[in-house]
Amino acid sequence: MISLLRCSAVAALAFLLYAFAPSSAPSSEKPPSANAAREHSTPAPSEPALEKKVDELLHKMTLEEKVGQLVQYSAGQPTGPGTGRTDYDDMIRKGEIGALFNITTARQVNAFQHIAVEQSRLHIPLLFGLDVIHGFRTEFPVPVGLSASWDPDLIQQTARVAAQEAAASGIRWTFSPMVDIARDARWGRMTEGSGEDPYLGSMIARAYVRGYQGTRLDSPDSIAACAKHFVGYGAAEAGRDYNSVEISEHTLRQYYLPPFHAAVEEGAATIMSAFNSLNGVPSSANPFTLTQILRKEWGFQGIVDSDYTSLAELINHGIANDGATAARKAFLAGVDMDMVSSLYHDHMAQLVRSGEVPEGALDEAVRRILRVKFALGLFEHPYTDESKEAGAMLQKESVTLARTAAEESFVLLRNANVGSSPLLPLSANTKNVALIGPLANDKGNMLGSWAGQGRSQDVVTLRTALNERIGAQNVHYAKGTEITGGTDDQLAEAVKTAEQADVVILAVGENAGEMTGEAASRAFLGLPGRQEELLEKVVGAGKPVVLLIFSGRPLTLPWAFQHVPVAMAAWFPGIQAGPALVRTLFGDANPSGRLTVSWPRSVGQEPLYYNALSTGRPTGKIDLTRPPRNAAEKYVSRYIDEQDSPQFPFGFGLSYSNFSYGNLHIDKTKISAASLNEELQAREPRQGAALSASADITNTGTRPGVETVQCYLRFQGTSVAQPVRALSKFQRINLAPGETKKVTFLLGPSSFAIWNDQQKLAAEPAKVTVWIAHDSSQGVQATLEITK
Ligand code: NOJ
Repeated sequence: MISLLRCSAVAALAFLLYAFAPSSAPSSEKPPSANAAREHSTPAPSEPALEKKVDELLHKMTLEEKVGQLVQYSAGQPTGPGTGRTDYDDMIRKGEIGALFNITTARQVNAFQHIAVEQSRLHIPLLFGLDVIHGFRTEFPVPVGLSASWDPDLIQQTARVAAQEAAASGIRWTFSPMVDIARDARWGRMTEGSGEDPYLGSMIARAYVRGYQGTRLDSPDSIAACAKHFVGYGAAEAGRDYNSVEISEHTLRQYYLPPFHAAVEEGAATIMSAFNSLNGVPSSANPFTLTQILRKEWGFQGIVDSDYTSLAELINHGIANDGATAARKAFLAGVDMDMVSSLYHDHMAQLVRSGEVPEGALDEAVRRILRVKFALGLFEHPYTDESKEAGAMLQKESVTLARTAAEESFVLLRNANVGSSPLLPLSANTKNVALIGPLANDKGNMLGSWAGQGRSQDVVTLRTALNERIGAQNVHYAKGTEITGGTDDQLAEAVKTAEQADVVILAVGENAGEMTGEAASRAFLGLPGRQEELLEKVVGAGKPVVLLIFSGRPLTLPWAFQHVPVAMAAWFPGIQAGPALVRTLFGDANPSGRLTVSWPRSVGQEPLYYNALSTGRPTGKIDLTRPPRNAAEKYVSRYIDEQDSPQFPFGFGLSYSNFSYGNLHIDKTKISAASLNEELQAREPRQGAALSASADITNTGTRPGVETVQCYLRFQGTSVAQPVRALSKFQRINLAPGETKKVTFLLGPSSFAIWNDQQKLAAEPAKVTVWIAHDSSQGVQATLEITK
């Protein structure tokens, strides 16, 4: 089985040069097959030539110059503890640095590059990296928001714009995508990823890689991707950043590894090793994940870069008592490049001289780094044209894309009737609006965390866009409170403003920089500061309230969800926050976003995810809204003081249209495991699906709308317990009012493969339930059997 998953070295190298031309098939229909990347890759004619160049250069290098290629420093705003070094120019001249990051302009890049190319002995260019996470200058919604679009093609386009802008500033490497599965909203970095599902996460991981790397890595507007953080970082115990992680091999393979594998198959040039320990072994010195899985099973040929000072942190983890040991362990486990720790710089040459690190292994790591530099075309074109930099930013189409992306990211959570119809969309004649809340006119926070070169001045706020839409005289603004802090007077003014309006738009949430992203885990998931008080007071004014939640994660707002007619997750929408929100509120855009993380009722439910296992004592149909009344209700897997279910399930999101599901049809009721396994192992998979499942979806509303149709599977009777549901496919469809479409999912053999008790991916005899559904909590269903 493993050999099926292995990319050949040749194909993997080809990935470095050529990524995949955007496919015409909808991404959601692309098979997650292990061979997908190979099937789509273009052979790289120049590959032997590239290898020759790498070899020739390597042969000229001294031991110290080889080590230099493994060394990476932050030369700008630090994104972790600084090194205190100021001698980069001199080090570059001596060939002691291979890569720099955290500088952001073509001028700065060129200044360092001139030293490397013109003053170092071998003229090897530097590789410049940056956290370009959801845009460079054109900031798109934060990744968890982008993921809520369930639209890989859109995400690919955003990554393309990010690549074009970053490359114009000389940045040819982004530390993105973050493909960590995140099941716990306490973890601040949930905002940087694509949520809790491995299948959706894999489709999105591929989209980012395609977008960043383009069709060829050596085009001047392509940048190398870096899938991070390998691996398990999102499972930090109790959601506390950098915390230890325990994940069984089964769970690792079935849930946490697939998005990384997808990124590797798609040709990601680099991978970042994580901060966390995994089952006691720090991820930045873990030979099982870095060498066995990544290199041997997947055939990854690109660079493994450590996360920021994660090599030095091996000492804190307790697996090394000095820098030399940490460097040796990390390197031998499979880390090629040392981000900031300086341990390879300080110890690697001596480790090689003493024989503790074989020189052959060092050569391989250097080769991997040089290959990426050659593949990016840095030797031929080391410099960036400064005159073209400004013009590349914020192009008109990029800004329009930012608005579309924001519109697609919004998840409408509630839209109750006020009078006889739902409050949203607001009528075109709406006048006299109270706009309240600390996020209503806040530019900086709209950018989200890791905002690259995004600038507040580029942001159009909700207040500005609303003023433009209905006239400033009709918008009565009150800040109400600060995100944290705030005064009684502010609250009183907000209540007065609400009382005088016909409708209230209330914009509340988190501070993007302080409360979301790295080192921003929260133990409480409610509204910060006095915002809950603001909410309750404003609702008390008696006017219909549209609640807009700006956050990098779901927030626990049980009171709000009972008392406001409208609630919408706006995440942090990027530079076009205001126009996108206003177009959505007034119905020019129909919300289509779907949650990619389960939305908790209480923080005590975390970690909370839909694709959980059943227990031996499932709750079945017991009413969990009241305390247990007897033993049958008590001795089940439940809380005594909270429901088990999420506030809103994975996949959930409302629209201004309504959709109904019917006529589920599956074309088989039995499939043999043997035939599935034969197909899975075939070198050339036969065309055709193992199962076709279809359903009729009707737009029963009065507006055109987009429905994301989701196909879930459950396997029962297998060697290892399988989740109560797992997303298998999805399709976004447009439906006119009254229109019905038959949506067909073609499930290939890989849809029926599970990681079994031998840690092999294979089909097993099982009872299978298939759902075609609006979200993970419902749907039309059918069953079939996988026989022997
Ligand atoms: C630490 C973060 O964990 C990582 O995601 C980021 O890419 C690096 N710092 C570089 O800024």
